[in-house]
Formats: sequence, structure tokens, C-alpha cells
Amino acid sequence: MYSEKVMDHFQNPRNVGEIENASGVGTVGNAKCGDIMRIYLDIDDAGVIRDVKFKTFGCGAAVATSSMATELVKGKTVQEALQVTNKAVMEALDGLPPVKVHCSLLAEEAIHAALWDYAEKNGITIEGLEKPKSDIHEGEEEEEEVY
Ligand code: FES
Repeated sequence: MYSEKVMDHFQNPRNVGEIENASGVGTVGNAKCGDIMRIYLDIDDAGVIRDVKFKTFGCGAAVATSSMATELVKGKTVQEALQVTNKAVMEALDGLPPVKVHCSLLAEEAIHAALWDYAEKNGITIEGLEKPKSDIHEGEEEEEEVY
């Protein structure tokens, strides 16, 4: 049910850990399952993401998507990192089962939250970046039947 790439990133996750004095840190939760994700970004003066680490209390799919997402944003500019959507991450992993798609949102939202933190700390605006929700399923509660 999982692709080889998903299994590889789940079993050997890249970029696990934390960054001291990170340029930006973002933490988000997923109301659907209660899982949590934190992303640390190290961004240089030119706005390039030099390093990125993640920590999660998440399922295997969350670990694999975060691992891939961190690989995809590393070395990119802040603007380019915004294009790394959960869809792009899933494609890079050769897909995820439909019931696990929500897990891939954790990484995307945590990266956005970390970028928001970086922008706030530096008094800058990142075009196209919206203020992160405290919970990635905020506003969708009425559509959900079971938690
Ligand atoms: Fe919670 Fe996947 S079940 S992140």
C-alpha cells in the first residue's frame, strides 16, 4: 500500500532533529489525528534555506512526507520553498493512500509556519505566505464526522 520511496523515507527519515537558534520555527497540529509537527529552518542573509530539521509526533506517512519535504526545501529560496506543496511532496514520494493525504499537510503547514516565524522575526513580508492556522483543520470541523 505504500510506495518504496515512502517506506524508505519512513525507515530512514532525513533531517530529523532540531536547529539551535533557528531562523524560524513552526509547529502545527492535525485535529484529525492529534499529531504534531515542528519544523526548524536555518535561512541565510540571501533568503536561502541552508538547513532544515523536523520533529514529529506523527504517523509513518507524516514522517515520510516531512522527510521528503525537508529534502525538497533545503537549498531553496524562501519563495521557492513556498511552492513545495503537500501535493508536490506526495508526487515526489510516488503517492500516498487517500486516507493518509491529510498527514502530508503537516509538513507543508509547519514549513509555512516556520517561514512566518522567520518573516516576523526579521520584520519582512513573504509574498504569498498566509498567517498559519494554529490547527490545520481549523474551519473544517463541520465537515468532519469522526475524530
Ligand atoms: Fe496523524 Fe498521519 S495519522 S499525521
